[in-house]
Amino acid sequence: MPSSSHSHSFRLTPTDYSALVERATAGPELYWKRESERLSWNTAPTHAQCEKQSWFAGGMLNASVNCLDRHLETRGDQKALVWQAEDAGRVLTFTYKTLYEHVCRMANVLRDQGIQAGDRVAIHLPSVPEGLIAMLACARIGAIHVVLFGGFSPEAIADRLADSGAALVITANVGRRGAKRIPFKATLDAALDLRPETLAVNAVLVVGVTDDEVGMKPGRDRWLASLLEKAAPDCAPQNMPSSAPLFLLYTSGSTGKPKGVVHGTGGYLVWASYTHELVFDHQDGDIFWCTADIGWITGHTYGVYGPLLNGGTVLLFEGMPSSPAPGRWWNVIQDHKVTTFYTSPTAIRALMREGDAVVQRYDLSSLRVLGTVGEPISQEAWSWFNDHVGGGRCAFVDTWWQTESGGIMISPVPGAVREKPASATLPLPGVHPVLLDEKGTLREGATEGVLCLKGSWPGRALSIWNDDGLFERTYLQPYPGYYFTGDGARRDEDGYYWITGRVDDVINVSGHRIGSAEIEDALATEVTIAESAAIGIPHDLKGQGIVVYVVPRDNAPDDLHIRAAKAITSKVGRYAAPERIHVVPDLPKTRSGKSVRRLLRKIACGETEGFGDLSTLADPEIVEALIRIIQTPQ
Ligand code: WT7
Repeated sequence: MPSSSHSHSFRLTPTDYSALVERATAGPELYWKRESERLSWNTAPTHAQCEKQSWFAGGMLNASVNCLDRHLETRGDQKALVWQAEDAGRVLTFTYKTLYEHVCRMANVLRDQGIQAGDRVAIHLPSVPEGLIAMLACARIGAIHVVLFGGFSPEAIADRLADSGAALVITANVGRRGAKRIPFKATLDAALDLRPETLAVNAVLVVGVTDDEVGMKPGRDRWLASLLEKAAPDCAPQNMPSSAPLFLLYTSGSTGKPKGVVHGTGGYLVWASYTHELVFDHQDGDIFWCTADIGWITGHTYGVYGPLLNGGTVLLFEGMPSSPAPGRWWNVIQDHKVTTFYTSPTAIRALMREGDAVVQRYDLSSLRVLGTVGEPISQEAWSWFNDHVGGGRCAFVDTWWQTESGGIMISPVPGAVREKPASATLPLPGVHPVLLDEKGTLREGATEGVLCLKGSWPGRALSIWNDDGLFERTYLQPYPGYYFTGDGARRDEDGYYWITGRVDDVINVSGHRIGSAEIEDALATEVTIAESAAIGIPHDLKGQGIVVYVVPRDNAPDDLHIRAAKAITSKVGRYAAPERIHVVPDLPKTRSGKSVRRLLRKIACGETEGFGDLSTLADPEIVEALIRIIQTPQ
């Protein structure tokens, strides 16, 4: 097995690990109470879990103090953040001391702008240090950060700004992608102009990533640098209850409307610190590189909070894997002596295609732990990453979790859990997955089923912003007594989990969650389309690609394909662009009018038989008609 060739010593032995599992299972209250001591509290919590989602009740703390202040004495001069710019020669290093000062300045700027505890601040930035600094600055004054992914369209941004009620947005003039410029400010401006009556934004602070000029609206827009210059490098932290929201992060579910997942402070931070230390075998001197954008949960928990809580060093890279030339990522690992590298199967699939010779040119011997997240990884990609990047020496952690879980849930623990290529392996100590059949009956032993979680854990989301009922309906009601993950999984004879993918209408494109309904709602805004269905099909590079079926109204225009594609990219974002759009006369539906996605998926994959019983369809003939259309070259 690959783990036998590890040449490193890891923090935990299999015996230590078993002891943790035992303690966590036998006495969760005591176990989590002890884990809460990894944070510094102004008032220690009286309990670990009181009721349902409330973790560490009675506790009072500040997240930025936990990430920064408490390290100042012991690690003030240690690197906290190393930023590698797109241009190879440009590196910015922040020690814990200087990062603390930057965060305090930014926090003072936000306070000067009238931001108070509980207010929402949106962060819409490329991969520059100001993103991490702004998150911690919000945390310092008790404001709730809402990071918006840079790939969102103006429509998607406007929806999220309206739902969150953000009062202020931090953006950049532009982002860099090689020689290309991504218009961050212009995109935000377009969003702010769409439905101004729904928005509470009254200030926009702009980071000058380059010298590019952008339009500034007087009274609303200010350059951040000029405000930071005048701000003091100290800022009294706001003392916050453990259950106060730390951030909202929007994610897609099976409804069209994106959900603002609410994460609390105490529970989330304990989870971020606990999982980062366990799963990545965190040790002093580690250089941790998580390639995820801070616009996603991975960027929050492992690009910011986890490593900083544990006194680690975060590497942040502005650029892309293969720009200006293939091998750029390997070059970054070599130059910065990265020890822990956390990325996505999608990225690995793309890098594999560049060939082994590219990787071999670099010295990657600093690496100790490799990790992946976001989608199932194939055995082929697992082995390539393990052998060619990790040189067969590294621990490999295939980590399963989701936005709502706050941090990693199922994953190997280096040195303690034997890996099996492409399996997320075992739940972390204190996590209790179960597999259920469709009726909600527990399945024991080696089996397959819907993946649910028994009991709670500190990192679990508190709610969905503005809609507590939706949280209950989505996660707690489908399988009473359990938390429903939306995923299916297989468990083997060793109790190892193999995630098989979503069982709901969520499509996972390059690790980005997109709801079928989100795409269908976007298509519904195009007047020439009567109805539509979006499904995911396997895709070599992206994991899943989107295929869309559209039913035109009478007199379909010739450019229906273009209109459909435009509706999607403008409402959702370019990352949701479909692979194929099929114009069809109707959709296969049940008699109650529900599209049968299972059939649409099979048809899109080119299958022509094995559709099962079609007699329950309103119009069984439609299946034949669709097959003919799919097989006719467009
Ligand atoms: C969904 C969550 C967790 C941070 C990134 C994505 C899929 C996640 C794995 C894995 C197979 C995985 C699941 C999950 N997923 N990790 N290791 N193996 N599938 O967060 O956007 O909330 O997506 O990603 O389907 O439910 P997210």
